[in-house]
Amino acid sequence: MKRNLSQPEILPTHTAALFEQAVVRSAELLRAGELVALPTETVYGLAANAFDAAAVEKIFRAKGRPGHNPIIVHVASLEMARRCASIWPDLAGKLARAFWPGPLTLVLPRSPQIPDAVTAGGATVGIRWPSHPFIQAVIRACDFPLAAPSANPSNEISPTNARHVQKSLGNRVALVVDGGQSQVGIESTVVDLTVNPPRLLRPGMIHAESLLAVTGQLAQGPGGSEAVLRSPGLLKKHYSPKAKLLILSWCDEADLEAQIAKLAAQNLIFKSQNLELSRVHVIAHTQIPLTEKLGRISVIPHDAEAFARAIYAELHQCDDAGAELIVVEELPNTGPWRAVRDRLERAAAE
Ligand code: TXA
Ligand code: MG
Repeated sequence: MKRNLSQPEILPTHTAALFEQAVVRSAELLRAGELVALPTETVYGLAANAFDAAAVEKIFRAKGRPGHNPIIVHVASLEMARRCASIWPDLAGKLARAFWPGPLTLVLPRSPQIPDAVTAGGATVGIRWPSHPFIQAVIRACDFPLAAPSANPSNEISPTNARHVQKSLGNRVALVVDGGQSQVGIESTVVDLTVNPPRLLRPGMIHAESLLAVTGQLAQGPGGSEAVLRSPGLLKKHYSPKAKLLILSWCDEADLEAQIAKLAAQNLIFKSQNLELSRVHVIAHTQIPLTEKLGRISVIPHDAEAFARAIYAELHQCDDAGAELIVVEELPNTGPWRAVRDRLERAAAE
């Protein structure tokens, strides 16, 4: 990875004039083949001109991203989406009408205009029309689609505010635009429309139940190792904080402390058996432990949307505070919670 030790430009967007200035500057840099970190409603993206292979290559270098992981292309109109795909099935039109602009990525056969760098040499391309007004305005100003993965080093937690980007990629990007806290908070739902029936590759806050109402049929899960290779977001371990993460349920603080002590004694948590409860941070939604012994206790409302919006920022904070172990209270196993459960299970995987 090449390091550019200069600090990035940071531009705010909280007044109409600042928003406009940031759009103009972003478009200028993107036209010149530079990388810009931009807000979207899901997570912040690290954007480059999707038609410029050399610019897209810079994304892989900045993130330390393996070359076999394809990048989502962001558009700001149906017409632009159709230009990125060689075939536009009826189902794409129906899903776009139902959920775009929004947190849904459609995988379709690629158009020849999309360079290999974007698709990782594959025959398909992921396309999304995001709802965040800032990235929409930039795409319209550029008049080309933007290739943008989440703006974090490969395999780390996605950023949901500008500070998260600055912290991890600040020296590898020309400009970070501050568009506030991401509304959705976890990455888009990814659906493969090149197979029959369509397949849900990555769950997100557009839930399987909502997709099914439009598609009629929907296969779920990776569906074989070939798909995992084509979509590495499906790998078991992904989206991880630096601290070890465990998902537990407990009835009260004594029970929680006993469970941690037992795991520590089995050497399952800490490198040594030296239990330091102050380096254990807890993220709870229902059973809030009332104890001073644990390092930090955060409470996220028991609501799937609120949880999705807050969880990555909480994980970033635990890492920043030097947590050794993050314990997250088990989430319900029902439709609305499936996407956040998916991310936490990957974060917890060894
Ligand atoms: O919400 C999002 O999707 C955010 C924002 C920035 O739009 N982007 C994002 O990108 O999460 P990234 O690269 O971090 O995750 C994209 C996921 C990866 O798991 C990738 O493998 C999969 O989508 N993907 C992209 N193109 C694909 C394709 N043609 N076929 C299968 N999977 C694809
Ligand atoms: Mg990512």
